[in-house]
Amino acid sequence: MVEIKTPKPKKSIQLLRGMKDILPEEERYWSFINEKVRSVAETYGYGRIDTPYLENTSLFVRSIGKETDVVEKEMYTFEDRGGESISLRPEGTAGVVRAYIEHGMLNRPQPVKMYYIGPFFRYDRPQAGRYRQFNQFGFEVIGEDHPVIDAQLMMIAYNFYNEIGMPVSLQVNSIGSTETREEYHKALIDYYKSRKNSLCENCKKRMTKNPMRLLDCKEEDCQLLAQDAPQIIDFLDEDSNLHFVQVLEHLDSLEIPYTLNSRLVRGLDYYSGTVFEIWPEPMEIHEEDVNIEEEKKNNEGKKEIKEEKTEKEEVIKPGSQSALGGGGRYNYLVEMIGGQDTPAIGFACGIERLIIEIKNRDLKVTQKNNPDIFVAQLGDLARKKSLKLFEDLKHEGLKVAESFSKDGLKNQMEMANSKNVKFTIIIGQKEIMDDTILIRDMENGIQETIDFKKIIPELKKRIERYGVKEMNGNNHNI
Ligand code: HAM
Repeated sequence: MVEIKTPKPKKSIQLLRGMKDILPEEERYWSFINEKVRSVAETYGYGRIDTPYLENTSLFVRSIGKETDVVEKEMYTFEDRGGESISLRPEGTAGVVRAYIEHGMLNRPQPVKMYYIGPFFRYDRPQAGRYRQFNQFGFEVIGEDHPVIDAQLMMIAYNFYNEIGMPVSLQVNSIGSTETREEYHKALIDYYKSRKNSLCENCKKRMTKNPMRLLDCKEEDCQLLAQDAPQIIDFLDEDSNLHFVQVLEHLDSLEIPYTLNSRLVRGLDYYSGTVFEIWPEPMEIHEEDVNIEEEKKNNEGKKEIKEEKTEKEEVIKPGSQSALGGGGRYNYLVEMIGGQDTPAIGFACGIERLIIEIKNRDLKVTQKNNPDIFVAQLGDLARKKSLKLFEDLKHEGLKVAESFSKDGLKNQMEMANSKNVKFTIIIGQKEIMDDTILIRDMENGIQETIDFKKIIPELKKRIERYGVKEMNGNNHNI
């Protein structure tokens, strides 16, 4: 007898650690943010730039700095088939500056303002809001040193969050010129010399390599020491000081609230002068969040509890580790990469972190292309009639959704709800006989029967009325 072997089930291949699939139900957050970024860019005159995901490794080593965490530990670097060392871009500024030089943008009217949205890669330790492939949108202004540019850029960043209803704080500092930092480094080393034993191992190394990074170490003992460390603001040279004072004056006249944060130094070496970050304001803890925490504690150690958590549970701790975005001046970078001495400033924001915050705070996300109407049907005749109606509605410029393969009304109403439509129109057996149609207002649940022939003008009228109502309401829509 022939023995039949059952094939061994193949182990399924899983997502790489630190990576994230963006599923269709997430799409509305992404298009909302994309749309908002595009509209801000248009308002303030930024042109879109897309640089390659891969660049020569030396671009990042030279700009971000050899001794930074990003270059030392987090870059995806490898040799291509031609033996050249290339890296997946860990951030966007270096590539934009390379493109500025390479395409002779110095000869265009200055400043050149550019924005980008796209994926970046850092081999970071994954945790809430921290991924190995993540997305940023960023704005860069190259070729102008005026303090008004710094203030306006911070205002753009601050207002971006404000307008979507996200409470944030703007943290501001200046790290001055190269000379400022040389003096400051000496003072920091002096301060930490006698306290070296209390520092974590990483910070002991940072003392010689990159002393300013001692200030934003997350270890508790190091944070305590940082509190009494000398402050860079006391070391600013005259020009840096004047520039910073003027930036703050502009922020005051724009009525943008900010926090002076003398320990804000940023993690990339190319910065000089103004630096800033956007931090989410801590969230109020609700009872349900506490329950989730309790449940997590109770389940600790149980194997079957998956590492993966729902987004609602993904709570990011406050502080600079959780910054939604950050940026600053990089007046030396163009020259460092091989261009002429050109001042510049920019910022970038993490999109995944923003989406986690939007979800946790239940902020309203609306989309330009969200359907307004759902077409539901019951029975074969109704299906045929609504199939044609759907096309007619589209032809009239109305935004419609459907689920023609579904039969039950319950299923279809669930679908309509999930699509957040304003109206559902329903054709059943009775409506076929009477040549009528039901129109249901999804906000208040009121249903009316109307003449089938009047459905298009009726929907148009109602949607227009709805638009006016939304404009008058205080929704955080854009
Ligand atoms: P950054 O502070 O390294 O700055 O990154 C900006 C934002 O990207 C962070 O505030 C965070 O929201 C997000 N981000 C960074 N790493 C991750 C990660 N592993 N997972 C999820 N989100 C992350 C820059 O990249 C500079 N290029 C900003 C800039 C533009 N400076 C001047 N111009």
